[in-house]
Amino acid sequence: MNAKKRAFSGIQPTGKVHLGNLLGAIRNWVDLQDVYDCTFCIVDWHAMTVDYDPSQMRARILDCAVALIASGVDPNRCTLFVQSDVPEHTELAWYLMTCAPVSRLELQTQYKDKSAQHAENLNAGLLTYPVLQAADILAHRAEVVPVGEDQAQHLELSRELARKFNNRFGFVFPEPETVLTPARRILGTDGKAKMSKSKDNTLDVLATPDELWAKLRGAVTDEQRLRRADPGRPEVCNVFSWHRLLSPETTVAEIEGACRAASIGCIDCKKKFHESLLAALDPIRAKAEALYANPDAVFAMLAEGAAKARRSARETMALARARCGFGPPPV
Ligand code: TRP
Repeated sequence: MNAKKRAFSGIQPTGKVHLGNLLGAIRNWVDLQDVYDCTFCIVDWHAMTVDYDPSQMRARILDCAVALIASGVDPNRCTLFVQSDVPEHTELAWYLMTCAPVSRLELQTQYKDKSAQHAENLNAGLLTYPVLQAADILAHRAEVVPVGEDQAQHLELSRELARKFNNRFGFVFPEPETVLTPARRILGTDGKAKMSKSKDNTLDVLATPDELWAKLRGAVTDEQRLRRADPGRPEVCNVFSWHRLLSPETTVAEIEGACRAASIGCIDCKKKFHESLLAALDPIRAKAEALYANPDAVFAMLAEGAAKARRSARETMALARARCGFGPPPV
């Protein structure tokens, strides 16, 4: 018997995985594999809500899967699959859609932001995005959902939809609990916005050491430190906040003192961070290269994950259908 709670989380295949994804979500997923019975999903259907090139989708999924597996998400210790391989998710999304007030969906912050950004393609998928997300979670009757703070509102809606469905049709879904990712927001090289592909401020996990240095060189530090001789203020410097996430404690303490004393400049500090970054990313890049050498093997792992996920989703849907009056009555 498996006594571990079921956990579910998803990631969009946006292409290159960056340090914010790694420290924000992925590392946490890796750790949680020991704590929960984990299911992780590459949500390609969610990625359809904005314009995209279908000929690139397979490569984006591969990039995402490679980055996850190379970082330590282990298909032998969790279920890792692609959303579009499990059609039960869309079936459940429809059932949940009939439980979701339109006015409630219109209030979601992510919808408000996205609809402003994509005014030229304001499709219904952007509005119902969180319903599909609820379906992802509930199709596996997950009890916990590890996500960043920005997803907390969507999960509140997932719980509401579970409750509404259960009240209307009879109990099927436990209400999933949000487990917030421990890492705070990780800012990008601009030092202002959250690290994000759309902001072009990322440090990519699989970039070469030279590419990383090129990005790092231009990263914003303490903007009031104009000259090398000026004492720096680590507490406002974004590069220092990265050190705190990745560098050994002794290095962090050294950098902090030397920055305040102006005995090192920003470039010295960045060189140190480059070292810490490579120490973290070299093994991941090496594993990724091995995985890229055999993409079929990666897709085979995803297919195995999908087979497991379908078993779980089918079981849920047999019950949900019966509750809704479709097919034979529940046993
Ligand atoms: N909306 C999430 C994001 O953008 C991704 C996601 C889709 C997800 N389905 C999910 C997260 C289910 C957790 C659970 O990050």
